[in-house]
Amino acid sequence: MKKVDVVLGAFFGDEGKGKIIDYLSTNADLSLRCAGGNNAGHTITFDGKKFAMHLIPSGIFSGAVSIIGNGVVVDPKVLLEEIDTLQKAGISTKNLIISDKAHVIFPYHKEYDVLEEEMRSNKIGTTKRGIGPAYSDKMARFGIRMEDFISNKFKELLKQNIESKNKIFELYGKEPFDFEAIYKEYKGYAKKIKPYVKDTINYIHSALENGKKVVCEGAQAALLDIDFGTYPYVTSSNTTIGGILNGTGLNASNIGRVYGVIKAYSSRVGEGPYVTELLDKTGDQIRELGHEYGTTTKRPRRCGWLDLVALKYAVRINGFTDIVMNHLDTVGKLDKIKLCVGYKDKAGNITSEYTTNPDILKDMKPVYKEFKGNFNAEHITKYARLPKEAKQYIKAIEDFIKVKISFIGTGADREDMIVR
Ligand code: GDP
Ligand code: IMO
Ligand code: MG
Repeated sequence: MKKVDVVLGAFFGDEGKGKIIDYLSTNADLSLRCAGGNNAGHTITFDGKKFAMHLIPSGIFSGAVSIIGNGVVVDPKVLLEEIDTLQKAGISTKNLIISDKAHVIFPYHKEYDVLEEEMRSNKIGTTKRGIGPAYSDKMARFGIRMEDFISNKFKELLKQNIESKNKIFELYGKEPFDFEAIYKEYKGYAKKIKPYVKDTINYIHSALENGKKVVCEGAQAALLDIDFGTYPYVTSSNTTIGGILNGTGLNASNIGRVYGVIKAYSSRVGEGPYVTELLDKTGDQIRELGHEYGTTTKRPRRCGWLDLVALKYAVRINGFTDIVMNHLDTVGKLDKIKLCVGYKDKAGNITSEYTTNPDILKDMKPVYKEFKGNFNAEHITKYARLPKEAKQYIKAIEDFIKVKISFIGTGADREDMIVR
């Protein structure tokens, strides 16, 4: 049986997971999305075209059977728009399958996401896509799964949900939801989505038993994990390796290579602690050079240096067998590059052990090692062709985390990649 390759974000998201999944999918039969929803935005660039995928696995571009797993929360309207965009671009969606166990996002989830943010003193800066409330409903067993959405149970389940949610919205002085209008709209979506909905768990395992190659696309990243991230400034799912198993029905023995994706610098969108954040001109420079504006919300991303303390933690939790480092071309455009190799606390103690406690993190100061920049890595596809300054930077990262950087991104295009 072939082993499953997994791609996971190692920091706060937007490391370039879409690009590597697109690459790994070229020889895969199945491509799976496992967690999150349309809070994700995965960019794929090829032949002068750029696609931002929010729900459909990036493997769709290589013709792999593309599965939205049971761990994903699906906004049907966004999904249908995405299907439409692909079809208009001449990309077939006949290979798309949606798990019958994936949960559906409804308008009250999105509104509640906004309301919860309004009520909080510690704003999270969510994407307002209804992700947290949809997962809350899943855990509270109020959620509506795809299998219910496309069945004749849907009307009753939606009615119950809207009646109970309306009580909450009314308490907060908000407009109640109109059941009939939502039912009418969403019944239409269910009809369109029904042909794609199947049991994916047995399907995936049969495919593996028949020698098929499977790749998994993680969404978000380690430090946004509901358990292992910088809680409460996280998303509402397990974005680390466990989420891959829970979000697909794969078992631990199925897992092969685990690719942790990083950028040669770092970024975060939304609130929460970020030890290596640069609030100065260099931060602005990285944002402009790296085009660091959200794929999903268009928000400017917070930018900073690569943090090896956090990366070591992400390696431990996920068991990365390989690292994928994108944007080497971008850091090469800076005069000097800094790499965080330790955290100094208020008392002056230095540690290389990450903690996710925001109260502790806010007082940590990064300890940096400095490297020469001003090198040109753009569009290079052979490691040997990289300037020595770039190689020194890569080696320092590998020496620290003891994991090989097997893929190096040297531009946004599918072709801009060094495979070692
Ligand atoms: P994801 O959410 O992890 O898939 O990442 P996003 O798509 O949100 O953000 C990554 C951004 O970096 C996208 O705009 C990509 O096109 C771009 N990108 C990925 N790899 C590279 C690279 O090696 N160099 C450059 N310059 N851009 C890259
Ligand atoms: P990809 O897959 C970057 C962040 C939001 C916010 C927090 C919670 O493209 O890397 P949510 O809407 O999930 O409740 O928001 O998580 N966030 C992401 N940041 N990339 C993502 O996905 C993200 N998905 C969620 O900005 O801080
Ligand atoms: Mg993204």
